[in-house]
Amino acid sequence: MKRVITYGTFDLLHYGHINLLRQAKALGDYLIVACSTDDFNWNEKHKRCYFTYEQRKTLLEAIRYVDLVIPEGSWEQKYTDVKEYHIDIFTIGDDWAGKFDFLKTEGVDVVYLPRTPEISTTQIKNSLHSE
Ligand code: CTP
Repeated sequence: MKRVITYGTFDLLHYGHINLLRQAKALGDYLIVACSTDDFNWNEKHKRCYFTYEQRKTLLEAIRYVDLVIPEGSWEQKYTDVKEYHIDIFTIGDDWAGKFDFLKTEGVDVVYLPRTPEISTTQIKNSLHSE
């Protein structure tokens, strides 16, 4: 059984997220999503989410490709997560290309998936603001 992990905020869930999760699940058999907590988003990514962590987690859990949702509360936890959850493949959108290659030294395959063009949480927020 191949175990896959991905990380992200997944606020205002949109079809770009769904495409990413579908491709991520297709890389293996079991998909774990590490969803950024509200504190991590605010302190480290300087993003304020529209939906709370619990709401974003609930939405992610309802997606057929997602087997488990865990909190992402730090950048460094990737080292421990891949061991704790016996991860074979780390994947994320190619806006992060090259950034997580260091996980290969932990024996994990690192796959950057093509981002869906045009759509993003930021784009949705900006579009609603300008209406
Ligand atoms: N993603 C994607 N295609 C998009 C938007 C996001 O494949 N059009 C992927 C990202 O590459 C990442 C995951 O979805 O692997 C979660 O991304 P996230 O940052 O939560 O979503 P964005 O819509 O990019 O949010 P923001 O605008 O706040 O950066």
